[in-house]
Amino acid sequence: MASNSDMANANGRENGEPVVKRPRENVTPESPLRSQKEPANKVTVVLGAQWGDEGKGKVVDLLAMDADIVCRCQGGNNAGHTVVVDSVEYDFHLLPSGVLNKKATSFIGNGVVIHLPGLFAEAQSNLKKGKGLQGWEDRLKISDRAHIVFNFHQAVDGIQEQQRQQQEGKNLGTTKKGIGPAYSSKAARNGLRVCDLVSDFKVFEDKFRMLAEHFLAMYPNLNVDIEGELKQLKGYAERLRPLVTDGVYFMHKALTGPSKKILVEGANAALLDIDFGTYPFVTSSNCTVGGVCTGLGVPPSHVGRVYGVVKAYTTRVGVGAFPTEQDNETGALLQTRGHEVGVTTGRKRRCGWLDLILVRYAHMVNGFSAIALTKLDILDTLEEIKVGVAYNVDGEPLPSFPANMDVLTRVTVEYKTFPGWCRSTEAARSFAELPSQAQDYIRFIEDFLQVPVKWVGVGKSRESMIKLY
Ligand code: GDP
Ligand code: IMO
Ligand code: MG
Repeated sequence: MASNSDMANANGRENGEPVVKRPRENVTPESPLRSQKEPANKVTVVLGAQWGDEGKGKVVDLLAMDADIVCRCQGGNNAGHTVVVDSVEYDFHLLPSGVLNKKATSFIGNGVVIHLPGLFAEAQSNLKKGKGLQGWEDRLKISDRAHIVFNFHQAVDGIQEQQRQQQEGKNLGTTKKGIGPAYSSKAARNGLRVCDLVSDFKVFEDKFRMLAEHFLAMYPNLNVDIEGELKQLKGYAERLRPLVTDGVYFMHKALTGPSKKILVEGANAALLDIDFGTYPFVTSSNCTVGGVCTGLGVPPSHVGRVYGVVKAYTTRVGVGAFPTEQDNETGALLQTRGHEVGVTTGRKRRCGWLDLILVRYAHMVNGFSAIALTKLDILDTLEEIKVGVAYNVDGEPLPSFPANMDVLTRVTVEYKTFPGWCRSTEAARSFAELPSQAQDYIRFIEDFLQVPVKWVGVGKSRESMIKLY
């Protein structure tokens, strides 16, 4: 039987009544809206193209030098972004790396999950390192829609990891920062947001108790200090209030007002993305380009350049398949020369060759405008350098990156081998100053991905990022 609306469509009547056609409000044939130009203020995005720790912080710091707003849109303090300025090594987990630019506003968007003690501790430890963080609270804004990570979320993260180990013989290797449990609360719709904390504290308190009880019912041995945490949160509420803003309105004003350079700092990376990553060995947010829109309230039409950060080899922290992993002398060399130790957890990162099948897959999802290739200098001493260029399973080539982890575990990788350059690239400041073998390596990456390499990193400092065009 046809519905009312079908009938209205078929005979121009609804329930027997003629349908009154109303003119569209405010749009006349002469409306200037019709000759409107493309959005002027475009957002530049920096995203990890592998399994994280590609050097996003350094790239963001570089671009943030002339940005007006630098945003985080997803993840939490599972991220660890290192920035070296004037020989001082800052590390950021929740604060955007652009907070070092005293002229820019830093913004933590609604898609981020915030552990407040973590945020203030991070600021404090960076304040001690150098002058870069001075006045940080005056240039930070936080979305009122961002969810809060509580101490019990972190404790639950630890318990869940233990349970996975006991029940399945394998955990995920999470950072235990409470990221999964906090995003679970958000999805279950009993999470608490920044706007709750800075409103009526009594209402917040009741909801907080209910959430804590919910987790205690699931995990009776959970170590949770409800009263202690509430007291601490009350203190944070006062400090936070001046920083809190309506994030959607804040971004809207930035996008539609006078020209502003807006930069987004992706956390984690494409292969850790909850939808596109190596599930279940992933994080709990969208670390690919879609997360920028949902995590900030930015319409897709405002997204401009998307830069993929690619390390010249591959690393991974935690558990999960890693086809080009080198569990041998080469891996050990990359680990040592590259100082591949997690900024957040202090764990050794697993190392292997650059995997271009994986990076091409990240490009399919993100549509990179260009690539920042980091840590080329770490390859300086190798006589031979390999790059993964195809996956085979049971003798058959795979057309792309597989969804199924059992398949990924079984792939054999086809490599292209390059001669090494066996000399230091650290002093190079232009493409021409790089050894010809290194130039060939870079050109091959561009050809394979059909994406230009815009920067090449040959050291930790800002100056050691060579701009190719
Ligand atoms: P992120 O999580 O993507 O921001 O990266 P991390 O900060 O976790 O890890 C990258 C590490 O490599 C940091 O210690 C950076 O200082 C360092 N780094 C970044 N780019 C380069 C580079 O081109 N060469 C060298 N040698 N180190 C780099
Ligand atoms: P940045 O931004 C590397 C990994 C963890 C673990 C998995 C899930 O510094 O590149 P989680 O705590 O998020 O639930 O852990 O994801 N992971 C990262 N690995 N760099 C990161 O961030 C990561 N963020 C999460 O190691 O395997
Ligand atoms: Mg990192």
